Amino acid sequence: MSNAKIIGTGSALPEKVLTNLDLSKIVDTSDEWIKTRTGIGQRRVSDEKTSTSDLAMLAVEKALKASKTSPEELDLIIVGTSTPDTLFPSVGCIIQGKIGAKNAAAFDVSAACSGFNFALTVASNFFKAGSSKKALVVGADTLAKYLDWSDRGTCVLFGDGAGAVVLSQAKAGEGILASTLTSDGTGAPYLTMPGGGSRNPRPKDEKERCITMNGKEVFKFAVKAFENTLLSALGSAGLTHDRIDLLIPHQANIRIIDHAMKKFGIPKEKVFVNLEKYGNTSAASIPIALDEALKDGRIKKGDIIAVVGFGAGLTSGANIIKWGV
Ligand code: ACO
Repeated sequence: MSNAKIIGTGSALPEKVLTNLDLSKIVDTSDEWIKTRTGIGQRRVSDEKTSTSDLAMLAVEKALKASKTSPEELDLIIVGTSTPDTLFPSVGCIIQGKIGAKNAAAFDVSAACSGFNFALTVASNFFKAGSSKKALVVGADTLAKYLDWSDRGTCVLFGDGAGAVVLSQAKAGEGILASTLTSDGTGAPYLTMPGGGSRNPRPKDEKERCITMNGKEVFKFAVKAFENTLLSALGSAGLTHDRIDLLIPHQANIRIIDHAMKKFGIPKEKVFVNLEKYGNTSAASIPIALDEALKDGRIKKGDIIAVVGFGAGLTSGANIIKWGV
């Protein structure tokens, strides 16, 4: 029984860049509106041949290399995604087969943009229960495949991407110290992808395969959930917000992040933001940001890192990590 610590990270993004200017040519919007209301400047969009597991594999290979882990060492693979290649098998199983992680159990968790935090917390609890010694946790989504390109309220927000981390056993007092997950299914209608599931497996209208969102309601939820989930996880870790060295929020909207920074009085230099480049990559946003923060030298041994996200469900999740590599 032990905490889990992150010993390697990796991320992957499709090559194709879609700028705000590109979008303004297909829908009634502008670079100015998108930047002011969301902070997003561009996003990456995968081509037709690239599935979520293809992007995830690129991130996984990098994370395994960075952590000097061989696939046979893994006993657990968990993927946070809401855009799996197929309803089954899971993206986890596809990755497990491709990398040859023959000793690992593999599965997906569905918590939309909170998917990485949910997957990380589940993996962390496997370590606490003594059921895992080395795990791979992935957040990967290709939501751009499910956008209604005539709906300016959603198509400007999302992009594709994948991020992965390898976990191993931590010394006492290090690694993932505490986690909080929340769900409120009464808010389910505010953010959905209605078609393609068992309720409507063969939608006649293409738009039913696309994301529908009540942006205002999701915004209100996100601001509150961000604050409450972060406070709860910090409380479980026995810490206060002034102890955070780096806050890595889900990259959905700069106004949601700014609100939390103001509320907690967290200075800009302690918050990692890259949504200008990628938009909202759903479950991938936090592991991509974590990977970039590490590469930018923003994380040092002993730092307290808080990762916080929210998404459809409605769900929210936070993990408090004492960096221990
Ligand atoms: N370009 C130009 N105008 C637009 C656009 C656009 N892309 N989108 C909406 N507008 C218009 C609206 O039509 C409206 O016009 P009107 O006043 O004439 O009716 C006006 O701008 C204001 O619209 P609002 O919806 O009030 O704009 P708001 O400031 O709320 O911003 C946004 C909308 C960006 C969607 C915001 O509500 C938001 O970020 N919500 C949270 C969304 C989110 O984070 N979702 C992801 C959750 S994670 C997951 O699980 C997938």
